[in-house]
Amino acid sequence: MDQEIREFYAQGYEDERLRVGGNGRLEFLRTQEVVRRFVGERGRVLDVGGATGVHAGWLARDGHDVVVVDAMPSHVEVADALPGVSAVVGDARDLPVDGPFDVVLLFGPLAV
Ligand SMILES: C[S@@+](CC[C@H](N)C(=O)[O-])C[C@H]1O[C@@H](n2cnc3c(N)ncnc32)[C@H](O)[C@@H]1O
Repeated sequence: MDQEIREFYAQGYEDERLRVGGNGRLEFLRTQEVVRRFVGERGRVLDVGGATGVHAGWLARDGHDVVVVDAMPSHVEVADALPGVSAVVGDARDLPVDGPFDVVLLFGPLAV
């Protein structure tokens, strides 16, 4: 990942981006609504670029087995501490995990 982007994420805003403020909350709730429509019951979900687990957390609470891959170690550390979530550092273009997965989320990790 580009150093400038890495420095941006290192500021730590990503953990609150979808939790605070109207736009963030709207994006979170709308994403949750749409994902729940497709994810089914108790599947294995891969969240690529899942950051600190903003979606992985509720997916795990819904009963899914959730794996997060993210390029930022600081994000992965937070996500990995969530119950029912396992998180690993990795690049979306060369995934460090093996399937199969029932659903793959790819929301925003295509920076290089
Ligand atoms: C805009 S945030 C989106 C986070 C979350 N998916 C969401 O919907 O709010 C993008 C995330 O993708 C990660 N990311 C960026 N480029 C990546 C790459 N090449 N491989 C894996 N993760 C990447 C960043 O560290 C960051 O956590």
